[in-house]
Amino acid sequence: MCGIVGYIGYRDAYPIVIKGLHRLEYRGYDSAGVALIDKDIKVYKKAGKVSDLEEFVKGVNLHGTIGMGHTRWATHGAPSDRNSHPHSSGDRRLTIIHNGIIENYAVIKEALLAKGHVFLSDTDTEVLIHLVEDIQKETGLDIREAVRVALNKVIGAYAIVIMSSDEPDQLIAARKGSPLVIGVGEGEYFVASDATPIVEYTKNVIYLNDNEIAYIRRDDLLIKNIDNTVQTPYIHELDLKLEMLEKGGYDHFMLKEIYEQPRSIRDCMRGRIYPKIGKVQLGGIKEYTDKLKNVDRILIVACGTSWHAGLVGEYLIEEYARVPVEVEYASEFRYRNPIITERDLVIAISQSGETADTMAAIELAKEKGATIFGVCNVVGASIPRITHAGVYTHAGPEIGVASTKAFTAQVTVLTLIAFYIAQQRGTITQSKLIELLTQLNEIPELVEKALQSNDHVKEIAAKFKDSRNCLFLGRGSSFPVALEGALKLKEISYIHAEGYPAAEMKHGPIALIDEEMPVVFIATKHSSYEKVISNIQEVKARGGKVIAIVTEGDTDVKAMADYVIEIPQTDEAFVPLLATIPLQLISYHIAVMRGCNVDQPRNLAKSVTVE
Ligand code: F6R
Repeated sequence: MCGIVGYIGYRDAYPIVIKGLHRLEYRGYDSAGVALIDKDIKVYKKAGKVSDLEEFVKGVNLHGTIGMGHTRWATHGAPSDRNSHPHSSGDRRLTIIHNGIIENYAVIKEALLAKGHVFLSDTDTEVLIHLVEDIQKETGLDIREAVRVALNKVIGAYAIVIMSSDEPDQLIAARKGSPLVIGVGEGEYFVASDATPIVEYTKNVIYLNDNEIAYIRRDDLLIKNIDNTVQTPYIHELDLKLEMLEKGGYDHFMLKEIYEQPRSIRDCMRGRIYPKIGKVQLGGIKEYTDKLKNVDRILIVACGTSWHAGLVGEYLIEEYARVPVEVEYASEFRYRNPIITERDLVIAISQSGETADTMAAIELAKEKGATIFGVCNVVGASIPRITHAGVYTHAGPEIGVASTKAFTAQVTVLTLIAFYIAQQRGTITQSKLIELLTQLNEIPELVEKALQSNDHVKEIAAKFKDSRNCLFLGRGSSFPVALEGALKLKEISYIHAEGYPAAEMKHGPIALIDEEMPVVFIATKHSSYEKVISNIQEVKARGGKVIAIVTEGDTDVKAMADYVIEIPQTDEAFVPLLATIPLQLISYHIAVMRGCNVDQPRNLAKSVTVE
């Protein structure tokens, strides 16, 4: 959602903060602001991108070795200068940046208004800093205690950083439900929503836990629980390289991430598959082998692209492990009193590991006694910390807001989970597993090959860049790939797109087909091939334009489609990993040709930490 960065040390804070905001901008980009302490607190904020803020402060003397910054994705209050963070107390002594939502802000605001507080914004964040101010006024507490008392009064999710001009050599940071990482340097500390602004300066980080408050001075860090007990922090070493956070010669992060997929899929399988002996090893879930042998049902919860990966997982787990699977939108799951028992296994899928709806679904399933596995990309994020066990996707940082390599890594992990469970339950023969793992092992090379269609895909994209609508159709596990293709197109190019099971088209969407309607089919030579060919003919008979993703060497579909894009031959189980590639490329090129901001599409944020 929003991105937070803070610095306290011996260097000039502003360059560190502004660079950090650029790295965090994928989290939110409707406004940005910074605060610096140089005797008193100075705040500069602006609606727009981080670059607009930089322009705004050009020529201003930005001194100070303590600073913090914020990039926003609006929840309470429209994007505007006055709603941008940081927000200050009425007496300007205190300043805050915040990621999350204070749910009871309206009640608190009413009480504060009655006491004469005047608010300059529509945000819940400003209410929180006025509450701290009010507590100090009423009780005489120092800033540390006043923040702690205030946090005990608020309901909701937050990651905050607070500065006080009364104690100008200190930052106070706290988290509940929204991520916060502290970078530990020599005589300096960094605070950020994730490690990306920190890695340049130190590899040593502390992931703040929920309900913890950090009191940070240049040479001292004290972490307490919100109930005032001192905590012993654990320092992790970051496994993150700076070049992973840069475009590396590509025009956009999205394109770089599309091209990283041979590597990310290989990393995801490394040390986990043994094709020669037909074995899958998943260290993160091995303690749950008995559970997997006896599991009655698997529920997959996720949102957006991760939900699409979950649908692919459903096909694979049911096919190979023969366990019934239900795939749920995390946002709906918790609001319909779902039936969950202790014999259920819940798999929560999340790239960021911070999605609020997915976290809420996990909490609910946990309360009902289910075992929860996480499939996450960001190491140390919240979801891996609240699940019982899990498997990381190891795709590396995904900066483009539209998910690409995270999706294929999720599908890869779910494939491994399907085979792992099948292996434990004896629902797959050793020889079949050897055959499948041998093919899976080759997928990175085949993805590389699929990427070679880029120029051809770009030519096709040029033909359809002005379309107003687009349909994506597939059957079996290619149906979720169609859904994912449609989501990619709509989120980055703003063309209306729908994904459908190909056979469902005749039950309604066929009415939309005319000469203006491009229809993308996933028509590889597998179990539903002939049926999909019939569906293609139905579209052609009504004048629709067909773009078909086909198996290399296909001639039948070629004869009827307007355009074909070939992908290498593989087992049906792995088609989603290959068919996704041209769909990602087609959306990317269309969005670029339409002049859209590919990496930061309008209204979106990378991790959705509000429900
Ligand atoms: C689409 C996209 C989103 C996310 C969704 C869940 O390209 O990125 O639909 O998939 O917001 O996010 P995570 O996986 O972080 O839980």
